[in-house]
Amino acid sequence: MIPFEKLLLSIFIFTTTNILLVNCHAVMSVDLGTEFMKIGVVKPGVPMEIALNKESRRKTPVIVAIKGKDREFGEAAISRANKIPAQSYMYLRELVGKTLDNPVIEQYLKRFPYYKLKTNKQTRELVFEHDSETNYTIEELLAMILRKAREYATDFAEQTVDAAVITVPPYFSQAERRAVKRACDLADIKLLQLMNDNTAVALNYGIFRRKDFSAVGSTYLFYDMGSQSTTCTITTYNIVKTKEHGFVEEVPQVTIRSVAFDRDLGGLEFQIRLRDYFVKKFHEKHPKIDLYKNSKALAKLFRESERTKHVLSANNEYTAQVEGLIDEIDFKQRITREEFENLCTDLFERVKNPVNEVLRTSGIALKDIQQVLLFGGSTRIPRIQSELTKALGGIELGKSLNTDEAAALGAAYQAATISKGYRVKKFLVKDANQYPLNVRFERQDENTDQKLVDRTLIDRNHYYPSRKMMTFHKYVEDFAFEIHYGNLTDLSALDKRALGQTELSRVHVTGIRETYDKYRNMSEPKGVRAHFQLDESSLLVLDRMEFIFGGKDNGSEKSNHQAKEEQSTFAKITSKISSFFSSKSPDDSTKESAESSDTDEHSTKPSNTHDANLNTTTNSSSSPNTTIKSGPIRQPLQFRIETLDYVDPSTDARASSLKKLAVLDAHDRELAALSSAKNNLETFIYDIRDKLEHDVRYKKASTSDEQKKINAKLSEIDAWLDDEGINADVKALKSKLDELKILTKALKTRVDEVDLRPKKLQELRDTLNMTENFVQVTRNLFATKDKEEEKPFTDTEIKHVEKLVKDTYTWIDQAVHEFAKLTPTDTPKHLTTDMDDKITTLKRETNFLLAKAQRFIPKPKTTTTTKAPTTEETTTKASTEGAHKEL
Ligand SMILES: *[C@@H]1O[C@H](CO)[C@@H](O)[C@H](O)[C@H]1NC(C)=O
Ligand SMILES: *[C@@H]1O[C@H](CO)[C@@H](O)[C@H](O)[C@H]1NC(C)=O
Ligand SMILES: *[C@@H]1O[C@H](CO)[C@@H](O)[C@H](O)[C@H]1NC(C)=O
Ligand SMILES: *[C@@H]1O[C@H](CO)[C@@H](O)[C@H](O)[C@H]1NC(C)=O
Ligand SMILES: *[C@@H]1O[C@H](CO)[C@@H](O)[C@H](O)[C@H]1NC(C)=O
Ligand SMILES: *[C@@H]1O[C@H](CO)[C@@H](O)[C@H](O)[C@H]1NC(C)=O
Ligand SMILES: *[C@@H]1O[C@H](CO)[C@@H](O)[C@H](O)[C@H]1NC(C)=O
Ligand SMILES: *[C@@H]1O[C@H](CO)[C@@H](O)[C@H](O)[C@H]1NC(C)=O
Repeated sequence: MIPFEKLLLSIFIFTTTNILLVNCHAVMSVDLGTEFMKIGVVKPGVPMEIALNKESRRKTPVIVAIKGKDREFGEAAISRANKIPAQSYMYLRELVGKTLDNPVIEQYLKRFPYYKLKTNKQTRELVFEHDSETNYTIEELLAMILRKAREYATDFAEQTVDAAVITVPPYFSQAERRAVKRACDLADIKLLQLMNDNTAVALNYGIFRRKDFSAVGSTYLFYDMGSQSTTCTITTYNIVKTKEHGFVEEVPQVTIRSVAFDRDLGGLEFQIRLRDYFVKKFHEKHPKIDLYKNSKALAKLFRESERTKHVLSANNEYTAQVEGLIDEIDFKQRITREEFENLCTDLFERVKNPVNEVLRTSGIALKDIQQVLLFGGSTRIPRIQSELTKALGGIELGKSLNTDEAAALGAAYQAATISKGYRVKKFLVKDANQYPLNVRFERQDENTDQKLVDRTLIDRNHYYPSRKMMTFHKYVEDFAFEIHYGNLTDLSALDKRALGQTELSRVHVTGIRETYDKYRNMSEPKGVRAHFQLDESSLLVLDRMEFIFGGKDNGSEKSNHQAKEEQSTFAKITSKISSFFSSKSPDDSTKESAESSDTDEHSTKPSNTHDANLNTTTNSSSSPNTTIKSGPIRQPLQFRIETLDYVDPSTDARASSLKKLAVLDAHDRELAALSSAKNNLETFIYDIRDKLEHDVRYKKASTSDEQKKINAKLSEIDAWLDDEGINADVKALKSKLDELKILTKALKTRVDEVDLRPKKLQELRDTLNMTENFVQVTRNLFATKDKEEEKPFTDTEIKHVEKLVKDTYTWIDQAVHEFAKLTPTDTPKHLTTDMDDKITTLKRETNFLLAKAQRFIPKPKTTTTTKAPTTEETTTKASTEGAHKEL
């Protein structure tokens, strides 16, 4: 027998796309690179497509160039960047969630010395000093770009898109992830998930190869060198059995086994090497000039270096050229591929490191890797491929994929999976935590010597999303514990410094003494418990804190708990994939151990966020007797989170950011309104001029005097447009358009009337005939009935409609008589709009009677109750034309 759910699922088998619309909004993904972004859209009827930008391209440069209030994005911003490099912000992604002393920021300023990055003294945030009146935070700039992405997605989907999965590199820290999340908030995008870009790539790869996977895992290595960084990922694909409501189902799953990275090995650095080489060569010829002090020259050389890099990937030499680089001096420099490679020797040596690192940390041998797949634009550099071939002992490098869009598509699939309303073929994703997270606390137990304890809460490569709890024993007073990154010995010194502050936060727990005193007589204190989760964005969240008393929850309950633990990691994912399977069982598991303990939790209960000021003061008046019998007492405790790694902006700062962005958006809308007003006017002028010259109908319908007048006006407004009109506002432009419309209205009416008249007349006649027929039929039907209450309508009502029909016939006769006498240049008295009115009236009256007939139930006797509503209905319906009233 096929289980019911299986059957339902089989209905949702959908060939290649894997996604079927049920009933929902469009959602999007943004593969947010440092250089480019790609936008995926899933919308009803169009599963997983890449949204095109304004220039109809599939990828958009991540850059915003701001001049006053005018912003340019994408390709347009690149052009502007040559003129105002210091106000054209790019390579922004890597700057989020950092302070000025971060090596990533230092490197950025070394590469682009013309940017003025400062620390805002009040908020401690990093800001670009834009001009004397404005500073922009990184998050504000990123929000502008994400908002643009949303605009492209909305235009492409032709409907509102407000929710997104955004990709981030797997090495992003808690602070960096929170910053991207805040940028989403500023951009008014509902963040569904921050997905690691390597995971998105791996998911996308798996989706289209379900049939290749089996219960025995296949292991792949992905090497991805983008413009900023390099990541190397080992994944395993297999088919796993999941149990939902008692039915076992086989679904594919991708598991991230381990990730290694180099934060600063990417196309950008190669390009910078070329630029610096060109600068050096130029300085040799012109020792008195310092190009590093000239932002425009530096920006131009940077662009030319990009071209050079691309050309040298396919050719052995290139001559870089920039006309008028500085002081009208042209720049020209020949460079060979070999010279380029010599500039980057140390970079090429770093290519193999992530490979070796990921093999080591995953514990997987090279011989167990089935396939190696290359992603990212920079893996097209031939030397990088040869370095990789060496490092991989000759395994063939797979590079036939559409690597550019893999992450955007994988993230779009995830967006559809998460959103309610799409039925998505299940593909489980088990991502791995990058940095171990530890908890450090001071013991309150006098009996032990060791005071400070440091415990790993979530280890490296622990799968997530997952829940964890930790119990602090023997606490009787308020205390605080600290969350920090654990063992980071695997990281290079630079990557470690790039993480910034390794202390993440301090949690202050209060109300312990009161709770302890209140309950200790009733039940034995078991400790203070913290419930954490590493959510789907890899953000650590503290859901709640509670004081546990009593409860005989060791023993049998414990084994039960362990049995449930097996499937815990997936419970959440699976419940999301298929909402109609979802269960919302409350979390009832507890566990205790000697000192402090941490445990995987497995609830599908929706949790609160990590709001620092959770209002958890609850009344503790529940009956102690029953509580003890049914298990432990759990008393919620209040806590406050003090952020240590990167101070999140205050609500005031957020409000000020939103205001800044709103002003710019309003300016954009003004510009759009202005350009459309101008466009409307120009189009109208062109259109009328064209019609007067070429359209026989217009020529015939206008007198030469009228033509002269109109042409004079057209010339006048044309001249105005070239002069005053250049700086005219929307109102002035509209008033010019109105002038023209008034002047040409009569002519336009004549032409339109001649065009429309026959069709409208016929429609009116048809409606009349229909109404007549209806009246005739009702008359026949109720002819034998004498009494009013036996008929659906009164005689007055019928007579009213008959009169309407008669009057309309009279009107038509008069109109037709007039039309026969009209010359082409006469403006008619009877118009098609009048015919429309008459048609509407006829239809309304007929429909009114029809509706009445449908409600009609013949009654042998009149009662006021049945009659009253009818009367009311009649008066309200008919009162608009004041025609008739029934009394
Ligand atoms: C911009 O930031 C700099 C550095 O913090 C500060 O001196 C300046 O006053 C700020 N300007 C504005 C307009 O906020
Ligand atoms: C940290 O991890 C490394 C390997 O990942 C291990 O060799 C080392 O012993 C660990 N250090 C501590 C203090 O646990
Ligand atoms: C708890 O018990 C102690 C003595 O056993 C008593 O003095 C105290 O008042 C009790 N507290 C409460 C809240 O019942
Ligand atoms: C519960 O655990 C305590 C110590 O942790 C132990 O002494 C007791 O025997 C256990 N009870 C059962 C029913 O296992
Ligand atoms: C907490 O809740 C109580 C009662 O539910 C309310 O009176 C109080 O204002 C709340 N406090 C905060 C900070 O929301
Ligand atoms: C809390 O409990 C006390 C008695 O223990 C009671 O007087 C009070 O009304 C309760 N408050 C609420 C909000 O339930
Ligand atoms: C608790 O149990 C005792 C004895 O079983 C009983 O006398 C008392 O009324 C109970 N209290 C409550 C609040 O149920
Ligand atoms: C009016 O309708 C009747 C019945 O449907 C039809 O026989 C007649 O030809 C129609 N007359 C016109 C002028 O359309």
